[in-house]
Amino acid sequence: MRIADKTVLVTGANRGIGKALVEEALRRGAKRVYAGTRQPLSHSDRRVTPLTLDVTNAAHIQIALERVESLDILINNAGVHAFDDLSDRAVLEWHLAVNFFASTTSRRRPSPPCRSPPPTRSPRRPRST
Ligand SMILES: NC(=O)c1ccc[n+]([C@@H]2O[C@H](COP(=O)([O-])OP(=O)(O)OC[C@H]3O[C@@H](n4cnc5c(N)ncnc54)[C@H](OP(=O)(O)O)[C@@H]3O)[C@@H](O)[C@H]2O)c1
Repeated sequence: MRIADKTVLVTGANRGIGKALVEEALRRGAKRVYAGTRQPLSHSDRRVTPLTLDVTNAAHIQIALERVESLDILINNAGVHAFDDLSDRAVLEWHLAVNFFASTTSRRRPSPPCRSPPPTRSPRRPRST
């Protein structure tokens, strides 16, 4: 995949695979890398724009949508894999919220406002003389 001159957003960008993806995008010449993290992040590369982004937080997602002007590549990396009691509903809901529902929500972008098409003119009839 061509990354050069692209705008990339990585969720869960503070550690693990997400952090490595940020570095790889920079290495491949990304124009801008939005680094979504739950805790404040600073980065020495000026192409990195930190975003406070808990992927289960609707307000964070809304603010991210407003701050990110255009985006070529969204990497929904943030995820959890707790080795917990999966018969515990709360644990299941947490996994679904982060791993599944967050990725469906963060892909949504508000559509541009609809404009009605200009009225179509019917062709003029030739005047009878
Ligand atoms: N490593 C593997 O072998 C492997 C294999 C298959 C799939 N994966 C998937 O690849 C992704 C990254 O794996 P990894 O090994 O790098 O995992 P990791 O080291 O556990 O890192 C998970 C990242 O997700 C973030 N995160 C968790 N919940 C979040 C939330 N609600 N909102 C925003 N960020 C959240 C964490 O942020 P905090 O630091 O704030 O917790 C962290 O940055 C995960 O989705 C994982 O399921 C990994």
